[in-house]
Amino acid sequence: MTEWIKHNLIDLEQCSKEEIELILETAKSFKEVSARDVKKVPALRGKTVVLLFFEPSTRTRISFELAAKRLSADTINISSGASSLSKGESVLDTAKNIEAMNVDLVVVRHQSSGVPEMLAAGLKAAVINAGDGCHAHPTQALLDLFTIKEKFGKIEGLKIGIIGDILHSRVARSNIWGLTKLGAKVTVCGPATLMPVDIEKMGVDICFDANKVIKESDVLIVLRIQLERQHDKFLPSIREYAKLFGINRAKLEGCKEHLLIMHPGPTNRGVELSADVADGKYSVILDQVTNGVAIRMAVLYLLLGTKEKNEDNKK
Ligand code: CP
Repeated sequence: MTEWIKHNLIDLEQCSKEEIELILETAKSFKEVSARDVKKVPALRGKTVVLLFFEPSTRTRISFELAAKRLSADTINISSGASSLSKGESVLDTAKNIEAMNVDLVVVRHQSSGVPEMLAAGLKAAVINAGDGCHAHPTQALLDLFTIKEKFGKIEGLKIGIIGDILHSRVARSNIWGLTKLGAKVTVCGPATLMPVDIEKMGVDICFDANKVIKESDVLIVLRIQLERQHDKFLPSIREYAKLFGINRAKLEGCKEHLLIMHPGPTNRGVELSADVADGKYSVILDQVTNGVAIRMAVLYLLLGTKEKNEDNKK
């Protein structure tokens, strides 16, 4: 089994297949902890984890906090509005001041791509990317991989369709890195205006026909339409998007019986997914959320539980 030597987790592009598999394997044992009556182990007792969220989040922030607490670490929550960032302090200065209080790890979400990498270069504390701009969301992809592997027992050879706003999606990019490394065959699907130029260089196929992708896939990862990032009117209307790319019961006619429908959340019901599909038999959206805690426990444990060993391997 591979040993974990990375000091930070910035994206899955930088992780090997073996490192990804180590995280998934470690998460398996931590999932059991959350099912116990007493949901706590002492693995990170005495460690301090700071949650630095500059963008709204429900799932990621809460599951990182639960993960850290279930490993017995202390946690501090900081949001941009409630810190001295609102008085003009830079992100790096804020993080360095927090680090000066001897914290061990910073989990950061930011609307700009590259902020976690910048903090990782400037801090001695470990850094985990909890989503940066349109770049990467590694722990979301890891929990998606975990959920797929849990249901199928494997990832290699599966056909995965990623449907929606590929252009702005850090979830799509991280999933493409992770899924292709583990041997899945990935097809991306969405409006041409929301398809990144040269996306096929990431090792994926492109298909603009959602009906075809739905019928051929073992797993559909349905992305949120990011209304906050649509400054340049990429879509004629949300109604047209829903008609062509939204998943509803009629579009699922003839799909594989074992199909999994996943969504990172938050879901715009009636746009990306109809309500009956979001709550229906193919949906594993809440399993993804449950698995998110186990994945984040695994990542925190690997970065901090073996930290002494990592001191000479800062990246
Ligand atoms: N999937 C995800 O990142 O959700 P949040 O924005 O609620 O954290």
